[in-house]
Amino acid sequence: MIGIDKINLFTPNAYVDLVELAKHRNIDPNKFTIGIGQDEMAIAPLSQDCYSMGANATYPIISEEEAKKIGLIIFATESSIDFSKSGSVIVQKLLGINPYSRSFEIKQACYGATAGLLHAKDYIKLNPGKKALIIASDIARYGLNTPGEVTQGAGAIAILVSENPKLIALDNFTVPYSEDVYDFFRPYYSDTAFVDGKFSNETYLNFFKKVWEKYKEETNKSLNDFNALCFHLPYSKMGLKALNQVIDEVSEEKQKELLNNFNSSTLYTRRIGNLYTASLYLGILSLLNNDNTLKEGDKLGFFSYGSGAAAEFFTGTLMPGYDKHLNKEHIEQMLNNRQKLSISEYENIFVQKATNDTPKDKFNITFDNAKFYLSNIENHIRIYDKHF
Ligand code: CAA
Repeated sequence: MIGIDKINLFTPNAYVDLVELAKHRNIDPNKFTIGIGQDEMAIAPLSQDCYSMGANATYPIISEEEAKKIGLIIFATESSIDFSKSGSVIVQKLLGINPYSRSFEIKQACYGATAGLLHAKDYIKLNPGKKALIIASDIARYGLNTPGEVTQGAGAIAILVSENPKLIALDNFTVPYSEDVYDFFRPYYSDTAFVDGKFSNETYLNFFKKVWEKYKEETNKSLNDFNALCFHLPYSKMGLKALNQVIDEVSEEKQKELLNNFNSSTLYTRRIGNLYTASLYLGILSLLNNDNTLKEGDKLGFFSYGSGAAAEFFTGTLMPGYDKHLNKEHIEQMLNNRQKLSISEYENIFVQKATNDTPKDKFNITFDNAKFYLSNIENHIRIYDKHF
């Protein structure tokens, strides 16, 4: 058995209340909290980029012993700062991970971490005894006063993959699907995404239907075989729309179970926003930490979607004693202790950009208490530091 041995979240220490944002934008707050299904969005200050966030998500789950056993590090992001150098080597150095590792960064929008996870599973199969680290880290940016603004977010998820995993064993059979579409993309000259919102929703739903139908056809399984489905969650309502496409396939009692578990999977997303590559995994973590009906042996289905577009439906089984290895309190503390920003503070942060000319003191953000942070850019090299 191979799968998810450990998983952890990092999100920056600041957020915006979406009711306040709605009022400021003259929008009915119910549109955000009910129509979109989001309550708060995480904001990354200048001192947190996708690499420092990745390091912050990773260090709590890697012991010195494990750092030596890692042979594969994959960094998945759509917020990369460099077209050549990968974030995986930056995190590798910051955390002292085995240098005799295959280390690289990948991209296929929000699907990137799934490509990494499934690659890691194959790697562990060929290299028993080794461990693989997948880091998904992103800052979702649509622009001030755009329809996508309410679905922004920031954070990272780190996943340790191994044999005999403590949390979820992954099955071998999966259904991938991909097509060349322009629903959401970000050319190199723009630091916000171009998105055809309605088309992106349609494409997501269409891809889910395709992989789900194919999965049933190839396996002779049905929705009754699952205790929970987790979705890529650009915003919580998106996953609900996908689930609602298929929920009529089961009895009312089963529908209740699936909807209840889906609800548990959206609790963190509602408070953080879209984490692009990490969003599906934020949903999985939220489900594991917040659901009290699941038990060992229960079957989970996962829908990964990345605009552009690639999707995959894959499945896993909860391991015996998985609930003894969760970190609910740590996550609750991180979320509850964040600083709430006013709309003008958020707007000021949004337009800041870290460049070689940014004065060092601009990186000195008093509320950023994360262990790793970006402390300066010198000769175009990013300097990361840590709080002890
Ligand atoms: N009270 C309650 N609900 C309300 C309301 C009110 N006062 N006003 C509106 N609503 C509801 C609407 O009825 C609608 O619900 P349904 O979708 O169930 O019909 C919902 O709120 C949203 O309203 P609109 O469709 O009018 O919203 P919009 O056009 O302003 O923007 C959006 C919605 C297109 C999702 C936009 O937020 C966006 O572009 N987001 C970014 C793109 C995105 O997340 N796409 C998802 C698929 S792509 C993907 O998954 C990859 C990725 O990570 C980006």
